[in-house]
Amino acid sequence: MSDELTNLTDSLPNLTPRQIVDQLDLFIIGQEKGKRACAIALRNRRRRQKVTSDLRDEILPKNILMVGPTGVGKTEIARRLAKLSHSPFMKVEASKFTEVGYVGRDVESMIRDLVEIAVSMVKEEQATVVRSKAGDVAIEKILDLYHPPLRPAENLSDEDRENIENRHARTRERYRQDLMEGLLDDKTVELEVAESSSPNISVFSGNGMEDIGFQIRDMLPNIFGQGRTKRKDIPIVEAIERIRADEEQKLIDMDQVVKVALSRVENSGIIFLDEIDKIAGSSRQGGGPDVSRGGVQRDLLPIIEGCTVNTKHGMVSTDHILFIAAGAFHVAKPSDLLPELQGRLPIRVELDSLTEEDFFRILIEPKNSLIKQNKALLETEDIDLEITEDAARAVARLAFLQNESQDNIGARRLHAVMEQVMDDLFFDASDMDEKAFTVDGEYVYKQVGDKDITNDLKHYIL
Ligand SMILES: Nc1ncnc2c1ncn2[C@@H]1O[C@H](COP(=O)(O)OP(=O)(O)OP(=O)(O)O)[C@@H](O)[C@H]1O
Ligand SMILES: [Mg+2]
Repeated sequence: MSDELTNLTDSLPNLTPRQIVDQLDLFIIGQEKGKRACAIALRNRRRRQKVTSDLRDEILPKNILMVGPTGVGKTEIARRLAKLSHSPFMKVEASKFTEVGYVGRDVESMIRDLVEIAVSMVKEEQATVVRSKAGDVAIEKILDLYHPPLRPAENLSDEDRENIENRHARTRERYRQDLMEGLLDDKTVELEVAESSSPNISVFSGNGMEDIGFQIRDMLPNIFGQGRTKRKDIPIVEAIERIRADEEQKLIDMDQVVKVALSRVENSGIIFLDEIDKIAGSSRQGGGPDVSRGGVQRDLLPIIEGCTVNTKHGMVSTDHILFIAAGAFHVAKPSDLLPELQGRLPIRVELDSLTEEDFFRILIEPKNSLIKQNKALLETEDIDLEITEDAARAVARLAFLQNESQDNIGARRLHAVMEQVMDDLFFDASDMDEKAFTVDGEYVYKQVGDKDITNDLKHYIL
C-alpha cells in the first residue's frame, strides 16, 4: 500500500496555488478569479493527501461552479488544468446525459470513463518504466531468431566446443552491433503473428451499455478464432517493435495498474462538467425536455456528493472527486439549478467578459496564441509572416466591435476575424515567390472589409 501511495502523491505536481496560476497565465488572459479558485482546489487535493489523521477522509473537495458568458475561457481553464494536474481528468458535457431509465448515457458513465482514463494513464506510466527493459529483451529475442543459439554436437572435444561457442558468441556480438546501428533493419526474421483475417464487426455500444460492449469485445476473439497465429517473415525493424510492445505488456502488472488507477480516481480525479446551464430546466420554459433535465440534475446529486459507482475495474467511491461545473447561463440562471445541486457546487466564480485589451493580449501573449499559430502554419511554406502590433490591435478592435454589433461570442470572434485576415494568404501561400509577408493594420481592415465597422472605425480614428 505504501509505495502505491507515494506513487499517488507523486502524481500530483508540487505546485503552489501561485505557481498554478502562473502556469495558467501562460495560456489564459485575465479571469484571475477562475484561475485562483481552481488553483486552490488543486492544491487542497495535495494538502488533503498529506493529512495523516482520520480527518483526511472528512475533507471533501469544494466543488466549483464557473459562470461566464460564452468564449471567455471556461473550457480553456479546464483544459489547461488537466494538463497541469496529472490527475485523471475528464471534461464532459452535462447536456449529453439523460436520466437513468431513458435511452442515452447515464451520468454514472462519466465515472466509468474516468476510470478508463486513469487506467490508461497509469498503464502508460508503467510502460515508460519497463520500456527500456522490454527493449533489451526484444533485442535478445531478435538475435536469437536471426542468429539462433548453437546446439553443438555431442561428440566434440571440450576444446573444439569452446572454440565454436566463442566464435558464435563473437558473431552474435557483431550482429548486435549491426542491429543497434540499424544495419539489419531490412533483413527479416520469422515471427509468430496473429492471424489478421478477423471479421470486421462493430459492436454497438454507448447508450449506457458500454460495459456490455466491452464484454462482447472481450468474447469476440474466441468466437471468431482470432487467437490463431501463423508464422510470417517480418522485417527486423517491425519485429523489434512488435516484440518490444509484447514484452511491455507482459512486464506491466495490470492488477497493480488497476489498483493504482482506482485509488487515483478516488483521491485526485477531476471531472469538468461543461454546459451545466443546458440542464438547468427553468420553470418558465416548461414542456418535455425539462423532465429529463431535472432528472439528470437529480442523478448528478449523489455522484457529486459522493456515492459508489460500479465500474468494469471495481467499485469507485466518488466522495473525493473534484467537480468543476461551468456554464454560460445565458438563458437559464444558476438559480434555475436544483437547490440541492447548487448546494453541492459551493464555490461560485464569475468569469468576466473580455475587453478589447484582453483580445489584444489573447492574440499576442499565450504560448499558443493565434498569431503564433498562423505564423507556424505559413512557416511550413517557408514564408516568414510578420503580424505587426498595429495589426493585432486592429483584429482585437474588429472582433470587439463585431461582438457588440452581432452576437457576443467572446474570444472565438478572434478566430473568425483572423480567418478573414489570413484568407488570401492561406490560399496563395503555396505559390508565393516572395518569402516574407507583413500584415499590418491597414491590411487587416482591407481584408475584413466590414463596411459598417470600418466606417465606425473611421469615426474612432478621426
Ligand atoms: N481568457 C482567455 N485567454 C485566452 N484565450 C481565451 C480566453 N478566453 C477564450 N479564449 C479562447 O477562445 C476560445 C474559446 O474559449 P472557451 O472554449 O474557453 O470558451 P467557454 O468559456 O468555454 O465558452 P462556452 O460557454 O461557449 O463553452 C478558445 O480557443 C480559447 O483559446
Ligand atoms: Mg466551453
